[in-house]
Amino acid sequence: MSKRLGFAALSASLALTLAACGGEGAGGSGGAGSSAAAEDLTIGVSMPTQTSERWINDGNSVKQQLEDKGYTVDLQYANDDIPTQSQQIDQMITEGADILVIAAIDGTALSGQLETAASNDIPVISYDRLIRDSANVDFYVSFDNFAVGQAQANALLTGLGIKNEDGSAGSATGPFNIELFAGSLDDNNTHFFFDGAMDVLQPLIDDGTLVVKSGQTDIEQVAILRWQQETAQKRMEDLLTGTYNDGSKVNGVLSPYDGLSRGIITALTNAGYGPTLSSQPNPMAVVTGQDAEIASVKLINDGVQSSTIFKDTRKLAEQAVIAAQAFAEGNQPEANNTDTYDNGVKVVPSYLLPVQTVYKDNIQSVLIDSGYWTADEVAKGQSD
Ligand code: BGC
Repeated sequence: MSKRLGFAALSASLALTLAACGGEGAGGSGGAGSSAAAEDLTIGVSMPTQTSERWINDGNSVKQQLEDKGYTVDLQYANDDIPTQSQQIDQMITEGADILVIAAIDGTALSGQLETAASNDIPVISYDRLIRDSANVDFYVSFDNFAVGQAQANALLTGLGIKNEDGSAGSATGPFNIELFAGSLDDNNTHFFFDGAMDVLQPLIDDGTLVVKSGQTDIEQVAILRWQQETAQKRMEDLLTGTYNDGSKVNGVLSPYDGLSRGIITALTNAGYGPTLSSQPNPMAVVTGQDAEIASVKLINDGVQSSTIFKDTRKLAEQAVIAAQAFAEGNQPEANNTDTYDNGVKVVPSYLLPVQTVYKDNIQSVLIDSGYWTADEVAKGQSD
């Protein structure tokens, strides 16, 4: 049977007070007390989907690192289906999970599950995507998501030649036609990515350096439900046949995720762009990305996709494990941000990691030298 931690039910301040006094957290009703041996604890890890490689890497890293510390791990993927994720979490709770690590599909859809978790004294760690509208989110581990959006916009400007990789002014002045894409509106990150990107792009749209020829600049107009590659491809095809049917060209596309980028690149390729960024007379448009998925890293290496944003899922997993460990020991995890991530009910204490922009010329130093991908995998476009 589960050794409930009796911790999540404590208010953060009480928990902090207890921790500061060097005391132990209160034991839950019938629970094992605040500090339990890893061997006695089961951690439920709920990931959104296996269709995107990044979540497979996240799941594997979290599981591996927790098991290395002696925890039992119940890892589930929800196939991007909200009821499936809810059921999986319900089941984790029923089967005695002591701590939950959740990357939500829809950040607003898990209040019921979190309510049950709280009443069973199960701490909840929100993984990468903030769970919204619930007081029962105990900690958040993620990257600096606003900075991701800014980095994507800067990578777009770099690809167009308006900026250099080091941030200094480039030689190109435009005007350039661009189009904007955003992720799934039910993912809290989508808004941070888009706001971060627009923080950089809006002044250049305002001064005419960048022209969003479709006129579609609202997040609702450019969002792609469930981050689906096919939906992004379809939207890009519609833009090409609708907006660019007068002989004009799209020079750049802000894409927030590699899967979407590949859909966008397919649409562009089918319309005669490329195959590469240096092809003449009709070069591939500058397309950004996120996650350093292996298929996209190959495209970057081949000069087709312009950039991606690397988020080291091994380090994120490590932070989730550190947070889980703190809860297991009856402590509050250490936050490095306590004011950005308001989930609608409370500001969730967070640990945010930095990100890196990857272009063709730093694949080696950022991705290969760090052991994230091998040179062979990059050449093949497939993980081993
Ligand atoms: C993650 C991104 C990912 C996207 C699609 C977001 O919540 O932060 O890294 O590209 O989901 O899976």
